[in-house]
Amino acid sequence: MKNIVILISGRGSNMEALIAARDAGTLPVNIAAVISNRPAAQGLETAARAGIATHYIDHKAFAGREAFDAALAECIDTFAPDLLILAGFMRILTPDFVRHYEGRLLNIHPSLLPSFPGLHTHQRALDEGVRIHGCTVHFVTAELDHGPVVIQAAVPVLDGDDESSLSARVLRQEHQIYPQAVRWFAEDKLTLVDGKVRLAAELRDDSLLRSPELR
Ligand code: GAR
Repeated sequence: MKNIVILISGRGSNMEALIAARDAGTLPVNIAAVISNRPAAQGLETAARAGIATHYIDHKAFAGREAFDAALAECIDTFAPDLLILAGFMRILTPDFVRHYEGRLLNIHPSLLPSFPGLHTHQRALDEGVRIHGCTVHFVTAELDHGPVVIQAAVPVLDGDDESSLSARVLRQEHQIYPQAVRWFAEDKLTLVDGKVRLAAELRDDSLLRSPELR
């Protein structure tokens, strides 16, 4: 069974979706640890309650990104992860860190990348007037919120939506596609080859989800 480590910065609802899938028997992984860069991250308590080893490494205690990322990698590597999962981990990672985990580093982002990298994705989608929005699981490269796409979910932007209603609609889909992507990795159906996603042929059609609201 593959070993995974999850990095969070806050609420940890994507992490919870992964724990729930593991508990339901639909995600065959060992969640070795949950690590946060914020000591007060709510998700750390949730993980500890689920009996998972938790750590925090406060980025504010380090002089720069390189030193923080080196300490983070040292902690992560004590768990020998097959896969490292960014689940609302709100730190820009150094190229050395990303290279170290190449092909085994996934992120979830609340937009249909390459649209809306960065922050405030839902408000920006509303401001632009797009009709379709969503979320993306991708392998991480050194470029922020960029990298080979594994799976996306599309949701409609409805008349009367505000940031809160739109983010809730997207989050429901995040909780579907992240466990799905990790399951594919755990079952050796998802790999990164020469910088490109290789997904078992029978799964290609499952790599785009449509929310029930999307007609
Ligand atoms: C999620 O919406 C995730 O997609 C986003 O942060 C939120 C974390 O929520 N991540 C990013 O914006 C990364 N660029 P959670 O802590 O409840 O999973």
